[in-house]
Amino acid sequence: MFEANGIRSGYSGIEVIKDLDLSVDGEILTVLGANGAGKTTLLATLARVLPLMDGELHLNGEDVTTLPPWEMASRGIGYVPQEHAVFPDLTVMHNLHVGAMIGDRSRQERLDEVIGVFPDLAERREQLAGTLSGGESRMLAAGRALMQDPTVLLLDEPTAGLSPLYVELFFEKIVEIHDTRGVSIILAEQNATKALEVADRVMVLSLGEGSEAIDTEHVTMEQLREGYRI
Ligand SMILES: Nc1ncnc2c1ncn2[C@@H]1O[C@H](COP(=O)(O)OP(=O)(O)OP(=O)(O)O)[C@@H](O)[C@H]1O
Ligand SMILES: [Mg+2]
Repeated sequence: MFEANGIRSGYSGIEVIKDLDLSVDGEILTVLGANGAGKTTLLATLARVLPLMDGELHLNGEDVTTLPPWEMASRGIGYVPQEHAVFPDLTVMHNLHVGAMIGDRSRQERLDEVIGVFPDLAERREQLAGTLSGGESRMLAAGRALMQDPTVLLLDEPTAGLSPLYVELFFEKIVEIHDTRGVSIILAEQNATKALEVADRVMVLSLGEGSEAIDTEHVTMEQLREGYRI
């Protein structure tokens, strides 16, 4: 179980995320919100890449509020940022090896699994990550995070800018990763339709304020509209 209580964060003393609570325990939680709502700020805060101004983070009962980002990663928090998610000057294979620096299982075993999820990466193993297409690069970023054997995966708009075919494929992969590995997933998305299809619960983020997480089966258009302030 990964929990955030009363978290606040932002930039240069200006609060973006305002007193937000959330928790995941094996499910897919999607965080929906318009441009600038604070999705990236929230995920960076959860990964401890951005400092907390207030609030607490707990992972399986342990207080991880002050851990540095690499410690978060080694305890099972996998983070796929919206931008700069791969090392452009390293090959695909070397990017995946970086993910394997965390954890105990054999690298080859993990590589085989990740390639099983994203077979396209095998064909491009020697290619520099900076020369991959947008979709391939998103797969590599997710693959690198999976190499860490995460128990919680933070995905920041993994399908942004992808063609419909890749979007479809990527959402299938998210479900596959969740179902086969039992990973909790926090998925920041603008693509509400697809995100609601795969997620168990939804939180709408608006001007840094998060709604209560609602079961996706029960969410109404009104609740989404209210969140998006449209
Ligand atoms: N490095 C920064 N310095 C100052 N303000 C920032 C910084 N990064 C983001 N912000 C501001 O914080 C707010 C939330 O931005 P954030 O990137 O978290 O939104 P988002 O929901 O991820 O948007 P998008 O859907 O466009 O990715 C915005 O008003 C943005 O201008
Ligand atoms: Mg963002």
